[in-house]
Amino acid sequence: MTGGGGFIGSHLVAELVRRGETVRIADNFSTGRRENVPADGSVTIFEGDIADQAFIAQAVAGCDYVLHQAAIPSVPRSVAEPVATNHANVDGTLAVLVAARDAGVRRVVFAGSSSVYGNSAVLPKREDMRPAPMTPYALQKLVGEQYCQMFTQLYGLETVTTRYFNVFGPRQQPGSPYSGVISLFIDALASGRQPLVHGDGRQTRDFTYVGEVVRGVLAAATTPALGGEVFNLAVGGRISLLELIATIQRLLGTNLEPVFGPAREGDVRDSQADIVKAREKLGFEPQASFEDGLRETVKWYQADVLGAGKAG
Ligand SMILES: NC(=O)c1ccc[n+]([C@@H]2O[C@H](COP(=O)([O-])OP(=O)(O)OC[C@H]3O[C@@H](n4cnc5c(N)ncnc54)[C@H](O)[C@@H]3O)[C@@H](O)[C@H]2O)c1
Repeated sequence: MTGGGGFIGSHLVAELVRRGETVRIADNFSTGRRENVPADGSVTIFEGDIADQAFIAQAVAGCDYVLHQAAIPSVPRSVAEPVATNHANVDGTLAVLVAARDAGVRRVVFAGSSSVYGNSAVLPKREDMRPAPMTPYALQKLVGEQYCQMFTQLYGLETVTTRYFNVFGPRQQPGSPYSGVISLFIDALASGRQPLVHGDGRQTRDFTYVGEVVRGVLAAATTPALGGEVFNLAVGGRISLLELIATIQRLLGTNLEPVFGPAREGDVRDSQADIVKAREKLGFEPQASFEDGLRETVKWYQADVLGAGKAG
């Protein structure tokens, strides 16, 4: 797995270990953390840059499956640093595909993104809609999935892209301005600060608990007869930022008014997945409610982030 030290990758690793699988992680720990990786004899860490062909070839050799999760996963960072993000997100993906092809890997599952849909008003987003990337990050993710499809056609390497929408859960780091909006809001509210909302707060997202993504990715890896396919992996719902803030406040018992700032460059207004294809072909069915997922996330934040802060 690439990016196994990151937020989503580390949840995949934990589930694979629980299932008794042997896991290799290729990660440069640029945004991920070593502490996220379970200390277990079945997990080996390869530290390096996935865009380094010799490094990734060594990490992938002997693997049956590659779950390619590593990326610099930030829209604003890609706007500020298109070249650096292109290196990780496009050069890195190409190097992973070449390594997987050469190692005779059975299947590569690529972490795609709903950002490829852009800002069209049509909802929900279906996989066969014409992509319209509006930022370097979205374009890089689109190039990644098209490279996957091309490797399937050209070299017979099985690839599947899972397009995530807004994933949240424990271990999502609130520390940087590029962090997911849920971790930023929990961080602000739990610390007694007013959350900063870009725009009017009525923009909506298909917030997806990380446990759903784990089940979907593993189904995408193991379901027979998929090659070059793209799947939305989300709940299929729409929650506004204002509703999100209200739910976090309820869970934390806070009552702080949000502060509104200018809308962010490149942000889409509304996002909602059509998950019919994942349901039909992967047997994917969301299980956790939004509020249950958020409760787990808040609990983790209070224990691991605030708790660690107090201890330190
Ligand atoms: N979190 C979301 O809502 C979301 C939405 C859509 C897509 N995605 C995609 O899911 C994947 C995982 O995202 P995440 O939220 O867990 O992010 P994350 O930042 O927690 O994890 C990314 C991991 O990749 C590693 N990495 C980055 N560049 C690397 C490089 N050049 N070489 C080796 N390792 C490198 C980081 O150290 C980190 O461990 C990414 O591909 C991201 O684009 C995430």
